[in-house]
Amino acid sequence: MKKSIIRFIPKLRKRNNVIYRFTGKIPKTPDLPPGLYWEPASEALLDLVMSDDHSRCEALKGLLAQGAQGIIIHDGERWAAHGFISPPGISLPHHIPKRIVSEPWWLFYMHTSKEWRRRGLQKACIKLKLRFINQLAGRIDMVMTDTGEDNMPSRKGFITTGFVPAGVVRSLELHVPKHGIVLLHAKWNRTELHKELVK
Ligand SMILES: CC(C)(COP(=O)(O)OP(=O)(O)OC[C@H]1O[C@@H](n2cnc3c(N)ncnc32)[C@H](O)[C@@H]1OP(=O)(O)O)[C@@H](O)C(=O)NCCC(=O)NCCS
Repeated sequence: MKKSIIRFIPKLRKRNNVIYRFTGKIPKTPDLPPGLYWEPASEALLDLVMSDDHSRCEALKGLLAQGAQGIIIHDGERWAAHGFISPPGISLPHHIPKRIVSEPWWLFYMHTSKEWRRRGLQKACIKLKLRFINQLAGRIDMVMTDTGEDNMPSRKGFITTGFVPAGVVRSLELHVPKHGIVLLHAKWNRTELHKELVK
């Protein structure tokens, strides 16, 4: 079949995501590497620091439009890391069922640009998000998150910043080109232990 046609065929994907719950204290404001700053995400900021990454910029603007909040770490011209927050009542991220994500504050869509990895930015972004939630909600005892069970950097960052394992969501999803993810089935095994964390 032609490659141009294959691109438009929906694909089935199994996903195992480990779930974490925050049980720590309000973190101190993290120190960022010299020359980096953080700001809450806005359309104007995304346009400024993601002018060379149109698809990311549009995807993140889409999250803001759906009611998510974001933290952007940047050097004034280009983004270095970002992370988003789904407040209670908002059904994001799409790969976790609504019934699970719509109650807590959910941390999601974290990314550190390749040139800034292993410099502590994911952990800084998590701490900034926790402080941001505390400002908005006056509490941080209802914060949860997820990541792929094989995503060791992401998992380590959550453990170091005060999250504890809270089971595993196993799901089957359909990736529909130009539409996104359709969750066909998902089960949260709340007591399932996480795969061993590889150091
Ligand atoms: C996962 C990701 C956000 C981590 O960002 P980062 O800024 O490099 O992370 P940090 O420097 O804050 O490090 C976080 C932890 O991961 C560890 N780590 C980072 N990169 C690692 C790697 N390649 N291999 C092993 N461990 C790694 C760090 O040592 C740190 O562990 P510690 O807390 O035990 O000291 C980044 O790799 C990324 O953007 N990946 C692609 C997108 C993604 O997977 N996003 C997460 C989805 S929830």
